[in-house]
Amino acid sequence: MYSLKADAICRYAYTDVYANTLRYFEQQLTDIGFEVAHDPVGTMLARNRARGEPCFAVGSHCDSNRNGGKYDGTLGVATAVEVCRLSKEHGLELPLQVISFLEEEGSGFGQLLLGSRIVAQSITEEDLRERVRARDDGRSFWEHAAAAGYRPQDWREAHDILKHLVGWIELHIEQGKILEDAGTRIGIVRGIAGYVHADITIQGRADHAGATPMDSRHDAGVVAAKTVVEIERIARAAGDGTVGTVGEITFRPGIINVVPGEARFSLDLRGMNDEKVEMARRKIVAFARNAAKRRGMEASYKERQTVPAVRLDHDLVAAIESAAAAVDEPYRLMVSGAAHDTMCVAPFVPSAMVFVPCRAGISHSPLEQADPGDAAVAAEIMLNAAQTFVSRAMN
Ligand code: HGY
Ligand code: MN
Ligand code: MN
Repeated sequence: MYSLKADAICRYAYTDVYANTLRYFEQQLTDIGFEVAHDPVGTMLARNRARGEPCFAVGSHCDSNRNGGKYDGTLGVATAVEVCRLSKEHGLELPLQVISFLEEEGSGFGQLLLGSRIVAQSITEEDLRERVRARDDGRSFWEHAAAAGYRPQDWREAHDILKHLVGWIELHIEQGKILEDAGTRIGIVRGIAGYVHADITIQGRADHAGATPMDSRHDAGVVAAKTVVEIERIARAAGDGTVGTVGEITFRPGIINVVPGEARFSLDLRGMNDEKVEMARRKIVAFARNAAKRRGMEASYKERQTVPAVRLDHDLVAAIESAAAAVDEPYRLMVSGAAHDTMCVAPFVPSAMVFVPCRAGISHSPLEQADPGDAAVAAEIMLNAAQTFVSRAMN
C-alpha cells in the first residue's frame, strides 16, 4: 500500500471524510436557496429550479487521488458554488444546477470517472454488481453503495440529472504547466484526451533467487520491466501527444530471495488521436505477449475501461471566449491531457471546461497549489457564458 504523505488528501466514495466534504458544499448551496439531492449512488446535485425545468450546470468532483492535493476537482466544485452565489448577488437568478460527481479519481474502486460513467450509463450493471470492487476490502461497488444507504438497484435513474440541461462548464486546475509557463490565468478547453486503462499480468514461475541458474528461470519481473521500457518507446513513437504510463506494478510473491512468479502492472495510455492510442495499445500487448512467450511464459491483458477523446461544444467554447474577452482577460485555447467528468457529460449536454494554472503543473500530490483568485476570475467568466447560453435557450 502506497505510504501516503501525511498531508496528502485521501478522499473517496462512502468514506466519512468524503461525506463531510459533500456536506460542506451542500450547506453552502442550501444557504443560497438551492435544493440538494443525490443520484441513486451518491453523485450530488443542487438546483435552484424545480425538477424538469431547464438549467445550466456547473460542477466537478470533490473526491481525491489517494495521494491527492487540495485543488484537483474540489476547486471546481467550490467555483461552481461561487457561480451560483454571484448569480444571486448580481440579481441574475440564472436557472442553475451544481453537480459533484462521485468517484472521479477511482481511488475507492480503481475505476476512473465511475460516478459520471454511471450517469452517462457507459458502464454495465454487471460491472457495478461484480467487476468493480473496492481497493480496500474487495467488496463490490454495489454492496458499498447499498451499505452507504444508496439505491444501486436504481442506478439507471442517475442519467436523469443530465435531463433539461442547456449547458455544462467544469472548472479544473490544468494539472500541467502550459498556463503557468504562458503567464495566463484562463485556459479554455476544446477537447479532452481519450484513455485506455488496463492491467497486464505476466505468468512465470517463482524460484529460488540463489539456486536457480539464469538460463533456467521464468522471471515474470524481467518481462514486466522490458514491457514498461517498451511502453515509453511506443508512446513516444506514436506522437500526436500520446502518453503512456505504468503507475502500478506488483511482483508476487514479492520477496527478496524469490524470482517473481507473477508480475502485474497497470497501463494508462492517452491521446487526442484515438486511432494512434489504439495502435499503441495493440503494439504494447503484442510486445508483452511475445516477450513472455520467448521465455516460456504467458502475458494476459485485462481492460478496466476505455473512453474515447472528446471534442467540446464549439458554441459554448465561443461563449466562454467572448466572456473572457468582455473583461479583457487573456486566455489560451487548449486540450486536456487529464480525464474529466466532462467527458461523460459532453455526449448529452453542450459542454466545455475552463482551466486555471497550478504551480509547476504539480497535481495528484499534496504539493498541489493553485490561486483561488484565478478561480474567482473564472467564476465571473463562467457566469457570463452561462447567461449567454441560458438566454439563447429560453428565447
Ligand atoms: O487521471 C485523470 O486523468 C484524472 O485526474 N482523474
Ligand atoms: Mn480531477
Ligand atoms: Mn485527478
